[in-house]
Amino acid sequence: MQTLKAIIFDLDGVLTDTSEYHYQGWKRLAEDEGIPFTREENDAYLRGVGRRESLAYLIRDRQYSEEQIQEMMARKNRYYSELIKAMSPKDVVAGGFELLEEIRHAGIKTGIASASKNCRIVLDLLEITQYFDGIADGNSVVNSKPAADIFVFAAGLVNVPTIACLGVEDADAGVEAIKTAGMTALGIGPQDRFHRADRVLPSMENKRLKDLLGA
Ligand code: BG6
Ligand code: MG
Repeated sequence: MQTLKAIIFDLDGVLTDTSEYHYQGWKRLAEDEGIPFTREENDAYLRGVGRRESLAYLIRDRQYSEEQIQEMMARKNRYYSELIKAMSPKDVVAGGFELLEEIRHAGIKTGIASASKNCRIVLDLLEITQYFDGIADGNSVVNSKPAADIFVFAAGLVNVPTIACLGVEDADAGVEAIKTAGMTALGIGPQDRFHRADRVLPSMENKRLKDLLGA
């Protein structure tokens, strides 16, 4: 990596545990529809994956009309919205505020690259929107992770070349996107989840800038 000039964070499962709420939303939808769905499948196939792609995995070769697909995506999003509405700053990962302060004090830009259309709602509930120089979310690009687009777009928003960015992700599809974008990739979670991460940390809790940099 060139001198680090920006850190681009994924949101769900990195800065807060909304990945659990996404799972619970899909689980409830799967139960409505009588589709078997486990936490293990969620981890292996849905983590970090967009809304439509997630539903496609769930229904597989079951036949639904486009109208039914739209209704199911909207229903899952209602379930998810119910789960997140009580979120507050206490749901930021432990040490998250201190970490974001430290990064900004170090003169490093901060960005978000989230596949979620709920991204700004969650950032506002957590009261961390103001910590980011650029926010790329589920409305920003056409090609979703593992395509590089959202990380490239986020790098543009913070005005830093991708080669000088560190991307932080809890999903393998996200790490793939980061690497394809030409950034250094930090994976958050079990080592065996990631194929192309430059470094992996088991969790984001109580991390300082030096932990993210591996210095
Ligand atoms: C990602 C989550 O950040 O956003 C996925 O990790 C989710 O679980 C995806 O499916 C899309 O989110 P939303 O809020 O637009 O349905
Ligand atoms: Mg994530």
